[in-house]
Amino acid sequence: MTTYEGFAELETKGWSNDTISSGYVNMFSEASDMAIPSIVSSIKSTDKVLDLCCGQGNVTEALAQSGYSVTGADFSEQMLSHARKRFPAGDFVEADAQDLPFEDGSFDCVVCSFGLMHVPDQPKALSEIRRVLKPKGQFIMTSWCGPDISPVFQVFYSSVQEHGHVSVKMPESPNFHQFANEEMAKSILSDAGFDVENQHQVDCFWMLDAPESLAEIFQNGAPRGGYLLSQQPEVNNAAIKAAVAEKVSERFIHGDKWRAQIPASLIVARAR
Ligand SMILES: C[S@@+](CC[C@H](N)C(=O)[O-])C[C@H]1O[C@@H](n2cnc3c(N)ncnc32)[C@H](O)[C@@H]1O
Repeated sequence: MTTYEGFAELETKGWSNDTISSGYVNMFSEASDMAIPSIVSSIKSTDKVLDLCCGQGNVTEALAQSGYSVTGADFSEQMLSHARKRFPAGDFVEADAQDLPFEDGSFDCVVCSFGLMHVPDQPKALSEIRRVLKPKGQFIMTSWCGPDISPVFQVFYSSVQEHGHVSVKMPESPNFHQFANEEMAKSILSDAGFDVENQHQVDCFWMLDAPESLAEIFQNGAPRGGYLLSQQPEVNNAAIKAAVAEKVSERFIHGDKWRAQIPASLIVARAR
């Protein structure tokens, strides 16, 4: 089995980069925040929750405000410093999802909001999640729907395909959208010892002030988007951005703004 070394390096470098981590917090997370009410209302346990890949602590804070005893864990110091600034009372731990520093059966529920698709060894991370959960514990995760459904990913991927330089290739990685596909999600989670109880779509979007903002969110607010755009020769980078802006202005116009829909898929599963 491949270890996705190049992908692991891209993700580690990306989330420890000041521009990308701040860009995620200040731009990208406007969309991921929209999944929080669905996550919180899906929790059925009453006690200890782990917010894995907690990033800037948006979900950790919401869970704590809903009365849960919550620990946020993330492998990026930069993201954790945003979390501690946002929610100084929060309990935050630096940890890799593939090797969690918690005892077996420590949590009633593990939440992973837009995190698992960034992890290279997902079977290992899922086995760690199952290990730190109590028997029959709940696992709740979100991921971004792929271009079959997502207007934003249709626009972004098609523009890169049309104008990207042939020499720019993403390192091999697990399928970024596989958990949004119900059959794939069910199969991967079942192999890891979880039963999916419910999977549904959550509407998330950016209300953009300018059509040019979408490419900016991907270049400066996401490790994979940043890699794909910043590796391009200048002329290709400019052509991709122009194509994205043109498609945004045609497809997403909403009054004097542009509503860029990036639907998420939320999974509620239970450890067997
Ligand atoms: C897209 S952000 C999600 C942040 C937040 N949960 C949200 O919903 O907006 C992904 C987070 O996963 C973290 N991450 C990526 N790979 C990780 C790993 N192997 N172990 C722990 N955290 C990881 C990143 O540092 C980043 O903070």
